[in-house]
Amino acid sequence: MTRIFIVFLMFASVSTQAQNPLFIPPVLSGPIYELNVQHGTKQFWPGINTPTYGVNGDILAPTLIMNKGEVVTLNVHNNLSSTTTMHWHGFHVAPIHDGGPHQIINSGAVWSPQFTILNNAGTFWYHPHGENKTDLQVSRGIAGMIIIRDEAEAALNLPRTYGVDDIPLIVQTKSFDILHQIQIASQLDTLVMVNATVNAYQNVPAQVVRFRLLNGSSERSYFFGFSNNMSFSLIGTDGGLKSSPTSMNRLRLSPGERAEILVDFSSLLEQTVNLMSYSSELPNGIVGAQTVGNGMAQIPEYSLNPLNGADFILLQLNVVEQTANPVTTIPTTLIPYIPFSVADVDVERNVIMEPMMMGPEAMVEGPFGIDGVQFDMEVINITCQLNDVEVWTITNQTMVAHPFHIHDIQFNVINFNGNTPPPDQEGWKDVVLVMPQQSVSFITKFETFADPEVPYMYHCHLLHHEDEGMMGSFRVVDPNLVSDNSVESFRSYPNPANDFLNVISDVRIDRKSSVSIVDMHGRTHNTNSQISDKSLTIDTSGLSAGVYQVVLNGKNVIRFIKN
Ligand code: C2O
Ligand code: CU
Ligand code: CU
Repeated sequence: MTRIFIVFLMFASVSTQAQNPLFIPPVLSGPIYELNVQHGTKQFWPGINTPTYGVNGDILAPTLIMNKGEVVTLNVHNNLSSTTTMHWHGFHVAPIHDGGPHQIINSGAVWSPQFTILNNAGTFWYHPHGENKTDLQVSRGIAGMIIIRDEAEAALNLPRTYGVDDIPLIVQTKSFDILHQIQIASQLDTLVMVNATVNAYQNVPAQVVRFRLLNGSSERSYFFGFSNNMSFSLIGTDGGLKSSPTSMNRLRLSPGERAEILVDFSSLLEQTVNLMSYSSELPNGIVGAQTVGNGMAQIPEYSLNPLNGADFILLQLNVVEQTANPVTTIPTTLIPYIPFSVADVDVERNVIMEPMMMGPEAMVEGPFGIDGVQFDMEVINITCQLNDVEVWTITNQTMVAHPFHIHDIQFNVINFNGNTPPPDQEGWKDVVLVMPQQSVSFITKFETFADPEVPYMYHCHLLHHEDEGMMGSFRVVDPNLVSDNSVESFRSYPNPANDFLNVISDVRIDRKSSVSIVDMHGRTHNTNSQISDKSLTIDTSGLSAGVYQVVLNGKNVIRFIKN
């Protein structure tokens, strides 16, 4: 009853005219950054103070403008009453500087990572990443944009006057309880905001304008387009600029993804155009579309949210006079694109997103896990070797689309839900949306940083899923620095197994290795097995149900369950 009331209350505010100037976060530049994570308040409705979190302000965080190659120091002061962390999403940094769940900043403490900016020019962001705390702290307001610049980007004729013709757009929806407190794990995220501004408008000059789009929402995907249906040019994806602009009139971004677009407003002086989400065109299964689930189960309360499957305004754009030195053309070429080559692949991995419980509800509501387990601070799930080129195939065995994100690296999508990647999935990415019952493959290389103890994360960027444990960790080890035995680790899938079990090692398995399967009573079962590179596939079809050990060259390497 109360919830239905809230839905109508907020729908009313969504449909009113744009009346608030878009908040443009202030800029900080290096080499030293002071970031005060603090409590604040914000009036999302006139006269109503909602408690928020922010960095150096009530909500959101300064935009950090950094240059490739410079050494930066980020002093993150935690003025919250709880622990936090700060993650540089998309950055290629050492695991101790990554700001994942292991780099905890206690209340009152300062964390000061220092590192060299190695990424290419592009649009990145920063947000807390504490174990079980990401959704709450991001939803309450902590999220900031990072712009990296470099020489190759500087050589292009692109708009880059921040807040004038180069405009950061952090797109979010939030859910509020009856007392106007921001709440999480709710499907009633009915309040739309850009840069934390509800019903926002922005003046744009009648020339080529660059928008840096960041989907900073907890769960919702957007299908961007303009109300006059004009086309725009996609120039950059998560990790930087594309090889050439792609003209389009719709662009989908799932949580965590970024895009840079150029929009030509030259012929629209004194007109108004709305940036929209055409969510009625989102395929079902993506949070934000008409339905998620199937005939057997839907996400509870999902259908009560008027934004789901609807087209709605994100930002009103009022076209005003040109600036002094306007950019008036869209470049035809951008940055040479040299993807990793499949010919160089050292390791192929399969990563499975799956529900942790049986039944149709668990297929849409979770809890979800990855490769049969949920996140554990004490466990490192995957070991990669420094400088290996790897192909990861992410398979979604659930009924909801999950944006898969991996730290440390940028990747190239080579298979996108069964298709060759469309233009918006080409180039450098660190988040990719995996549709229900589909797979995505990407190729990457684990370069520069190795640490046998401190892991990086990979996870679903739906923050509620991440917090619930849909996250794993991986480490990168340098095989030249440690002896083979000390880094040796194995993992297996599917576990429980049916007809076969795959065992993956972090080092190459000798083709002439002896393989046997031993049951709980110590009896050895002879099975067929096949070794290729770092993987071992065992025919388990003849085994009866129970618990077994895989014995490789006389050593117990992994335990598994046969269904
Ligand atoms: Cu944007 Cu692991 O995070
Ligand atoms: Cu990240
Ligand atoms: Cu998910």
